[in-house]
Amino acid sequence: MSMNVVLGITGSIAAYKAAELASLLVKKEYAVHVIMTPAATKFITPLTLQAISQNPVYVDMFDSPGSWEIGHISLARRADLILVAPATADIIARIAAGMADDLLAATILAARAPVLLAPAMNDGMYANPVLQEKIAYLKRFGYHFIEPESGRLACGTVGQGRLAEPARIVSAADRLLEGGKALAGKRILVTAGPTREPLDPVRFLSNYSSGKMGYAIAGEARRRGADVTLVSGPAQLAPPAGVELVPVETAQEMFEAVVSSYDQADIVIKAAAVSDFRPRQRAGQKLKKLSAELMLELERTPDILRYLGQHKQGQILVGFAAETEDLLVNAGAKLKEKHLDLVIANNLTEPGAGFGVDTNLVTLLYSNGEIIKLPMMSKIELAGTLLDKIAALII
Ligand code: C5P
Repeated sequence: MSMNVVLGITGSIAAYKAAELASLLVKKEYAVHVIMTPAATKFITPLTLQAISQNPVYVDMFDSPGSWEIGHISLARRADLILVAPATADIIARIAAGMADDLLAATILAARAPVLLAPAMNDGMYANPVLQEKIAYLKRFGYHFIEPESGRLACGTVGQGRLAEPARIVSAADRLLEGGKALAGKRILVTAGPTREPLDPVRFLSNYSSGKMGYAIAGEARRRGADVTLVSGPAQLAPPAGVELVPVETAQEMFEAVVSSYDQADIVIKAAAVSDFRPRQRAGQKLKKLSAELMLELERTPDILRYLGQHKQGQILVGFAAETEDLLVNAGAKLKEKHLDLVIANNLTEPGAGFGVDTNLVTLLYSNGEIIKLPMMSKIELAGTLLDKIAALII
């Protein structure tokens, strides 16, 4: 069955290019369902898009595709991808505000499918920090953007604001749809956050992990239709919608939660920063400052990922390696020792990488020896890229 692309067209002069885009998508055998904003119809007619897509074109919120369906809900449900091209500053701001004041905005708000936006506008509008803030905000929630190109704009100036070439937009759409196809229905187990190893009833050993990377992966995997279980140590983050959250505290609890879901998992992504050691004894009462020094005796916690590697039955195993020295050597050793398919290595000493921050800078090491260094990107964008790479392992 062909995949459904909802193509949203908004009121930019570049709307005429949406006809070529629709035609390329149809040639790729996607089922294309066009929603136009009323402003878009001033630039190109619904009839043109109807002829190209061979499907009805929707403009009005109250024109239902079938008498028994509610327009925005039925299109939102059917979509495997929502592509908005061209996307004006106006639709970007309305999506960021959570508005549902026309059929396109309402469909996007109701949809679970990935949303890809290709902005096109005057260079001043595009550069405006208000718009840039909205784009950054939406990226944090997993919306995908294709940057406009630089060149001569319809308004006569030269700058960044031209709609990306349709072929570029189609290949970005392809990537999202392929990723979606590969992961839909797959059972993905993600771990995230730190663990806490208690010393006494009020104190613990832990680390600076925020859980952001693992939560971003879990949310993105869910948006791609996977069945996601998120085993999380204490994190100050809301669990992504639709994800089954299993809260844990200690490495031992994480071990038990992960092992109990392991048999059913197709893919395990271990983004948690698990404590390697725990106090040998947990004091029953609060430790008193009775002496000038206190020696803590620590013992190893179970290495969950190593255990999973030893008991692998076809699952894809992905680990993280956070290092402060000899990044590739240490990460490569982990890949082999723990029988991983992929390890995501980050150097904690580089700015913009690792714990707490919203961005990450990583190198991927595969079990076949391949190494890919990715550019710095937000953890949300990285989650999408990682899932594309992981999906490629099972296609
Ligand atoms: O060996 P190292 O702790 O650096 O390996 C990091 C990877 O192993 C991460 O994916 C982490 O989630 C996992 N790990 C684990 N159990 C531990 C320690 C690390 O699963 N006790």
